[in-house]
Amino acid sequence: MRHLLTLFDLSTDEILDLYARSRRLKEAFSRGERENRHPRRVLALLFEKPSLRTRVSFEAAMTHLGGTTLYLGEDVGWGKRESVADFAAVLGNYVDVIVCRSFAHGRVEELARHSAAPVVNGLTDSYHPCQALADLFTLEEHFGTLQKLTLAYVGDANNVARSLAVCCARLGVRFVLAAPTAYQLDDSFLDRLKQAESSADLVQCEDPREAVAEAHAVYTDVWASMGQEAERETRRQAFRSYQVNSRLMRAAPPHAVFMHCLPAHRGEEVTDEVIDGPQSIVFPQAENRMHVQKGILDAVLADAASRAATGPPAEPA
Ligand code: CP
Ligand code: NVA
Repeated sequence: MRHLLTLFDLSTDEILDLYARSRRLKEAFSRGERENRHPRRVLALLFEKPSLRTRVSFEAAMTHLGGTTLYLGEDVGWGKRESVADFAAVLGNYVDVIVCRSFAHGRVEELARHSAAPVVNGLTDSYHPCQALADLFTLEEHFGTLQKLTLAYVGDANNVARSLAVCCARLGVRFVLAAPTAYQLDDSFLDRLKQAESSADLVQCEDPREAVAEAHAVYTDVWASMGQEAERETRRQAFRSYQVNSRLMRAAPPHAVFMHCLPAHRGEEVTDEVIDGPQSIVFPQAENRMHVQKGILDAVLADAASRAATGPPAEPA
């Protein structure tokens, strides 16, 4: 895995390999072991939006693996003091891996094109691959298998929903999304998904009760994502019948769990009684961000080390 910008970059086998690494590292961590697997490797966190989970779980993960982390905020001025290409060419020679959180997805793609170090997407307006990887890992832990599972996503077809849709397709999980039609997954994304994974089992509907009827997990996220603050009131109106509350959870099978990527807007997309209730697994879900990102760092750094050992592919004569 050279870069991880979307889950289209990973095959099913690569995701399963990541999960095997994550599981092993999580078990070691729970025994109090911190394996010094990547000593003196440097991770740069280049963030244009706020973050608790992604930032801190990557920092902790890198520290546990023996490496170190630099947090780079607005002040480094990428694309402002100098072009993204120049910035990436310099930063990519200082550090071993870059995790980037940005607005337009194209910015992370441009960073990756010009960086010698691998780039991992820590959230863009379009995708949040690290989140979806941790979410499906959490579901597998909870149910013991992903086979024959259905994930019902109630809310905006945003970065998290898109990444969940791809991750579910790769891992054979049924993905059902309920939203007003204007906020559902668009045709160009659906075409790309079908091309990448022809057996993807994905359904969209407007009725949240229909969506959750056979769900193993009921998932929601904020109605207005970072960068959409000006639309908050319009979206609040559009989504007001999509709140995940006790009534909606009663329309799901009793074994269904509740998931949310967090941060939550309590009282909007989810009520306190659901997020704090017995079906909620939001905190183990958040904890797994760290364990799965440790697996991601381990895989990315192992790939970079093997590239360095074998050298770049030969130029054609
Ligand atoms: N879920 C998630 O990515 O949280 P942060 O925005 O706090 O990183
Ligand atoms: N969809 C949310 C996810 C936050 C982790 C956002 O982009 O703000």
